[in-house]
Amino acid sequence: MQTVTCIEDLRQLSRRRIPKMFFDYAEAGSYAEQTLRANRTDMERIKLRQRVLVDVSQRDLGTTIIGEPVPLPLGLGPVALTGMQHRDGEIAACRAAQAAGLPYCLSTMSICSIEDVAQAVDKPFWFQLYVMKDRGFVKSLIERAAAAKCSALVLTIDLQVLGERHCDRKNGLSVPPAIRLKNVVNIATKPGWVWGMLRGKRKTFGNLAGYTPGDANVASLASWISTQFDPALSWKDVEWVRSLWPGKLILKGVLDVEDARIAAKTGANAIVVSNHGGRQLDGAPSSISALPTVADAVGSEIEIMFDGGIRSGQDLMRALALGARSCLIGRSYIFGLGAGGQAGVTRAIEIIRDELDVTMALCGVNRVRDIDRQVIA
Ligand code: GLV
Repeated sequence: MQTVTCIEDLRQLSRRRIPKMFFDYAEAGSYAEQTLRANRTDMERIKLRQRVLVDVSQRDLGTTIIGEPVPLPLGLGPVALTGMQHRDGEIAACRAAQAAGLPYCLSTMSICSIEDVAQAVDKPFWFQLYVMKDRGFVKSLIERAAAAKCSALVLTIDLQVLGERHCDRKNGLSVPPAIRLKNVVNIATKPGWVWGMLRGKRKTFGNLAGYTPGDANVASLASWISTQFDPALSWKDVEWVRSLWPGKLILKGVLDVEDARIAAKTGANAIVVSNHGGRQLDGAPSSISALPTVADAVGSEIEIMFDGGIRSGQDLMRALALGARSCLIGRSYIFGLGAGGQAGVTRAIEIIRDELDVTMALCGVNRVRDIDRQVIA
């Protein structure tokens, strides 16, 4: 791999390496992408406070995430179709996370199944759950996650209906890729990806095998799936999930303070302040702008996690300063995966870790646990 110094380098490499429809899928936001952009622009507006002549020779980036010790306040968040970015992408990403001592969360909409990943790694990972209309199927997913010894269930609560990402429709996104001339032409320019995928375990949604209609001739599995999410999902269902899953539970997708107050009473271990990476309600506030209010309201009752726009260790610092105990990344590691598989994900983690380390030093902070609003200028 060429000298990669930042997440943007990984993004550029990934863009060259993988078919446009899958690069676009990961990169896109919904509709006019206002919220997607706000996640970044609001992040960049937060200025850090430069401090000098503080002894920063004893830096410690360690903390805990839902009670588990981690060397860095970071986890790899669930990303649908990870296995289309790279052959067996979920396994590669999970291995990179675990080698770095960080949690990895497998998406319901993964290509490798829960069992594929469990067989390929030696430590527990997290499983992200979508609640579909077919509750029997949802129950079976929870049971499979328990059988695979997943160490946390991450319930996504901000996707009862799917926000449209225009590029997916324009690209005819489907899994496996649709045989449209422009897709074939584009894929033909990505031989490394094709060669890898041919050797991969799976080419379609691994967790949904047997659930999706008539496997062989489904033209557009991805769009069929979008009709399966349950718009009737309510807080009662969180109780239902809680009753089926005795382990650690994380609710992902809280942006509003009133929702945060309800979430804090569910018995969940953590909430993730998130707008789904700007992929759901376009026009919603950026994640980073919502974070301090939510953290002030419920941070003493429930652990606060954050995602949305983390592209560097400086961003991680900003989110920690504004009330997150830890953060999840999505695109930042997906670009690494597309660029170079497991090694690319490892590189993404290293970049963010090293940036956080230096940022802490330049802000005069020795311990991740000491980062608070004092570091904001
Ligand atoms: C699914 O979670 C997506 O954001 O596409």
